[in-house]
Amino acid sequence: MTEVTLAVIGGGLRGLIYARRAHATGAGRVVAVAEPDPLRRAAFAAEFGITPKREYAGWEEFAAAGRVADAAVIATHDQLHTGPAVTLADLGYHILLEKPMATDEREATLIADAADRNGVMLAVCHVLRYTPYTRMVKDLLDAGRIGRLVSVQHLEPVGWWHQAHSFVRGHWRRQDTSAPMLLAKACHDVDWLVHLFGRPPARVSSFGSLSHFRPEERPAEAADRCLDCPLEPSCPYSAPRLYLGCLGDPGSEFWPLSAVTPGRTEQDVLDALRTGPYGRCVYACDNDVVDHQEVVMEFDDGATCSFTMSAFTPMEHRRTRLFGTHGYIDGDGRELRVVDFRTGEEELSAADEVAGASAADGHGGGDHGLTDAFLAAVASGDPALLRSDAAESLMTHRVVWAAEQARLTGSVVPLHP
Ligand SMILES: NC(=O)c1ccc[n+]([C@@H]2O[C@H](COP(=O)([O-])OP(=O)(O)OC[C@H]3O[C@@H](n4cnc5c(N)ncnc54)[C@H](O)[C@@H]3O)[C@@H](O)[C@H]2O)c1
Repeated sequence: MTEVTLAVIGGGLRGLIYARRAHATGAGRVVAVAEPDPLRRAAFAAEFGITPKREYAGWEEFAAAGRVADAAVIATHDQLHTGPAVTLADLGYHILLEKPMATDEREATLIADAADRNGVMLAVCHVLRYTPYTRMVKDLLDAGRIGRLVSVQHLEPVGWWHQAHSFVRGHWRRQDTSAPMLLAKACHDVDWLVHLFGRPPARVSSFGSLSHFRPEERPAEAADRCLDCPLEPSCPYSAPRLYLGCLGDPGSEFWPLSAVTPGRTEQDVLDALRTGPYGRCVYACDNDVVDHQEVVMEFDDGATCSFTMSAFTPMEHRRTRLFGTHGYIDGDGRELRVVDFRTGEEELSAADEVAGASAADGHGGGDHGLTDAFLAAVASGDPALLRSDAAESLMTHRVVWAAEQARLTGSVVPLHP
């Protein structure tokens, strides 16, 4: 297969994951990077052998150079997707765009329109669509194994320490600098559920709030930082326990530790916790995103779906129960139990070599599956190799925005076809 040349915009954690997979398979070669952090940029360029003239301090400098690769990976933060996505689509790049597409509907529409008018492929990184497990579930549904899908119960177990890391202390803690948590975290789940149903819901409702990680929940003796706190040993959200515990494990050092510090010694971690955002008490941060949320969807035929996103879980694969007119599927991200109502028989099946659920584990094979599909689509010019295009991703993002509107207004929000 033709080797695809890639430019990576945002040489952080996600940019690295896609670049490494492209090089590991030989399906892609990274020829340019745009990254303002000089240490990250230099390390990225060295790892992928990028020539100095193709190292850029930001996406604008990169775009000013014209088209230097077949495709671009845009892995900047949530609020910095629209500018690069529209500009690079106008330059003719095929685009692998991190989720969420954008933080509001107007910008996401600009992106989808840019992909459409330039005839470029634009895949949003909804990695769950690309896992072997998802393929198994979707194939069972499409084959009619449980008849007509009548209702779904779905859980996104965010994980107590993951919530503290990303949504209390980390980048995704505030709506004004990132996005509502349903968009930042669970746009994956809404996209996945819509994919299983094969169409968007007709209407949605939602409830949820920031229940625990707030000043009123702070114990009286707690200090502002874990390193000064007498309660640290007994606190579930202890930063030293979490981050010192990452040392020595390559997966945990990559994620979550590299968001905290580029260092790999105990002293590096302690220094970061002494001064940086990740050492703060979880009850004394400037976070405002929810820690639990429900979304209920109703489809045109009356089918329903209830989805729970919760911080107060272990971090593990999503769990889903699918209730059909002729059968039932119970899935835990690895194994499926299918019960056929005609025979009463149960069948167990497992996806091959399912990796863990976390970013360090590649999201159950989704990161690799997405990268491989995108590179194959660009190499062959065949968009059918992608499991969603820009228009479909825009549609599933619209469901998220409708659900968030429902939560904020306490109403049931219709979605117009
Ligand atoms: N698909 C998934 O499952 C998944 C998982 C985690 C994060 N994400 C998304 O991926 C995106 C990136 O997250 P991350 O964890 O890699 O963050 P990160 O902070 O590790 O990387 C983002 C990088 O963008 C760089 N950057 C900032 N301004 C820039 C500019 N003007 N031009 C070029 N680069 C610039 C930053 O310096 C940083 O290195 C976010 O939108 C996030 O929500 C997706």
